[in-house]
Amino acid sequence: MSFTADRLLLFGATGDLSQRMLLPSLCALHADNLVSDKLKIVGTARSDLDDTAFRNFAQDALNKFLPDYRKGAIDGFLKRVSYQALDANQTASFADLAQKVGPREDGLAIFLSTAPSLFEPTIAGLQASGLAGETSRIGLEKPLGTDLETSRHINDAVGTAFSEDRIFRIDHYLGKETVQNLLALRFANIMFEPIWNAQYIEHVQITVAETVGLEGRVGFYDGAGAMRDMLQNHMLQLLALVAMEPPSRFDPAAIRGEKTKVLRSLRAVGPADTVTGQYRAGTSGGNPVPGYADELGKPSTTETFVAIKAHIDNWRWKGVPFYLRTGKRLPRRVTEIVVQFRPVPHSMFAQRGAVAQPNRLIISIQPEENITFTLMAKEPGLDRGGLRLREVPLDIRMEDAFAGPQRRIAYERLLLDLIEGDQTLFVRRDEVEAQWAWIDGIRQCWAENHITPNPYSAGSWGPTAAIALAAKDSVAWHE
Ligand code: BG6
Repeated sequence: MSFTADRLLLFGATGDLSQRMLLPSLCALHADNLVSDKLKIVGTARSDLDDTAFRNFAQDALNKFLPDYRKGAIDGFLKRVSYQALDANQTASFADLAQKVGPREDGLAIFLSTAPSLFEPTIAGLQASGLAGETSRIGLEKPLGTDLETSRHINDAVGTAFSEDRIFRIDHYLGKETVQNLLALRFANIMFEPIWNAQYIEHVQITVAETVGLEGRVGFYDGAGAMRDMLQNHMLQLLALVAMEPPSRFDPAAIRGEKTKVLRSLRAVGPADTVTGQYRAGTSGGNPVPGYADELGKPSTTETFVAIKAHIDNWRWKGVPFYLRTGKRLPRRVTEIVVQFRPVPHSMFAQRGAVAQPNRLIISIQPEENITFTLMAKEPGLDRGGLRLREVPLDIRMEDAFAGPQRRIAYERLLLDLIEGDQTLFVRRDEVEAQWAWIDGIRQCWAENHITPNPYSAGSWGPTAAIALAAKDSVAWHE
């Protein structure tokens, strides 16, 4: 049902995500008049705060995390905000929450960012209190399970109260501008699609490298690891956007349908195609940092790095490896996709001693938003000593190309889409289940083959085995 919500109910309102991302994003939407004057925001969490105490809390967060030019909007924004303490395990406490949310003219958008153990009681409470009615939709923040079975369990529970068209599963990478730009690059330009296949592409690399370590998320991260934290969601979404067939329409059904087909075509990964790692003490930004187990305070077999050679078994991608890697405490923060094209079928330049390197398309998603296409060009000169070709980059720096429009953080878009009811950038149930099914297979492969994390020094590009994973195919990771 289509409606623009006039109430937003924020579960986990005192949490880290709320402080860093949700409240600042909502304040930015308010400042730019992108949400209606009618929109009221009710925060809820366990903490025993009243409206004033929560507004003070929100004000502190906004002062800390909003850019200076936005701070003038804080007072006005806080007028929209109120708070209700809640014990999610007490169904009765949802009646007070419903009262606080009050009557809606249009509809309710709920954003759930709570511990997984509170999911089911929260859904039950929403249902019992009437907050889950036809004019309510729900946004779900990860982690949504730890494998296919637990993910199904959560989806079933949510499904008892909300139909799929009212469930908005968040993968914040889909809210990133450059990730959406992948669609424009591929489908708004004529020149890529004809060569976007196994005949012309030799391999694809997707890297999501982080310099940070555990960042105090002890309880969560050690139970998840790099594969469930990053590969299962963000990286598979990137892969799906790179590999999917052109959707016929720009709508949730068409786009999510094409992504799902790719995810379902992922081949099971064998032991030779996966490497895991865990960082030991080393450096980050020139400073010494402890190893993962020291940060955690106990030994652990959780991977903080994973590299996979994946294959998509369909017509377009048959035989094209997708090398994926992600890790914490790597030398720099970078998310990028490298599309390596095949060499020209015949190079006449070889006769003159010159080498034509295959073209590459490098899509940098963060921290810089750049698209670089490497082309071969002839070096200027009379070529008496032999003709020379050189790789030259055709560079698009988004910052320069679009100097005017301000950059939105992912949650600004995703919260607005949740309020307005556009599911395009949210993950559908069959999509998320296809992701888990593939990931479960990899975990099973690790267990059966006793694959445990290789050590790597903080500040390096991961274990040497990860370099070997690509090198045995004569491929070097792009750095
Ligand atoms: C989150 C992970 O989903 O994404 C974190 O749980 C990770 O471990 C973060 O640091 C990375 O997001 P971004 O937007 O900084 O690349």
